[in-house]
Amino acid sequence: MKWLHKDLLDVSQLSQSEVMAIFETAGRFQELQERPVKKVPTLKGRSVILFFAEPSTRTKTSFDVAGKRLSADTFSLAKSSSSLTKGETLKDTALTLQAMAPDAIVIRHWSSGAARFLADRLDCPIINAGDGRHAHPTQALLDSFTLHQDWGDLGGKTVLILGDVAHSRVARSNVILLNKLGAKVRVCAPRTLLPPAVNQWPVEVYSDLTEASKGVDAIMCLRLQLERQQDGLLPDLREYARTYGLGERHVDVANPDVKIMHPGPMNRGVEISSDLADCADSLVLDQVSSGVVVRMALLFLYMTRKGEE
Ligand code: CP
Repeated sequence: MKWLHKDLLDVSQLSQSEVMAIFETAGRFQELQERPVKKVPTLKGRSVILFFAEPSTRTKTSFDVAGKRLSADTFSLAKSSSSLTKGETLKDTALTLQAMAPDAIVIRHWSSGAARFLADRLDCPIINAGDGRHAHPTQALLDSFTLHQDWGDLGGKTVLILGDVAHSRVARSNVILLNKLGAKVRVCAPRTLLPPAVNQWPVEVYSDLTEASKGVDAIMCLRLQLERQQDGLLPDLREYARTYGLGERHVDVANPDVKIMHPGPMNRGVEISSDLADCADSLVLDQVSSGVVVRMALLFLYMTRKGEE
């Protein structure tokens, strides 16, 4: 299969068979993680710029690790050390990066649409590592890959997305991808933390967490995005934690094998209890491991435009 896409802006661009091709490619790279020398020459001589205008631990590090394991040269640019702080526009920054002839740019930016802005102007592949509230496609891909590793087919499974849906690009991309893979999706949040158009999303909407948790196969907690809150949306953090923090009583009414997920970084004791974050059914660290191989698969597919034979 030849990989046809130049850029990854959101999961909505991908067909179900393309998602499966990403999973198959990531699955092959998993074997590499077990070796003492975790490096192959696949992208030797290619360069990837990691342009992160917002903070990141998991996404940035795992793209860096992914690139290096494929022998690509990776170069990091953070907002704090870039000329964005001197008022340079995103367009000028992008054109400057293009002039250095990278083979791909991974971008995280606070503006929804920033990845598309670059994709429309630059010749190299642009991979969206999170743009504003809009999308976080690589997170959704690694989340579904993690579940796929456990369950196989996601068809017929029910996944609850819990928390600050309004501000969450993770939720938006996951809703699209989980539906594409045949899962049923519920969202649960206080009214103020649901997006205004949530009734048009392909989800069941709940405001009561116990009701929302009944019979679900996985619960994805979202980080409460304290840095994106506007006045009045979140009256009291302790009240939020009491009403919408995931605890044992919610897991008790879910499927007995319910999987607990969180994209990180976690506010322990706010959106999830510390015990649940670390419990045997928690996939939180599996998600991080999946992030490396899924991002290896994406760099391979987008930078070579080749799929598996
Ligand atoms: N899940 C996620 O995007 O984490 P980082 O912000 O640490 O990259």
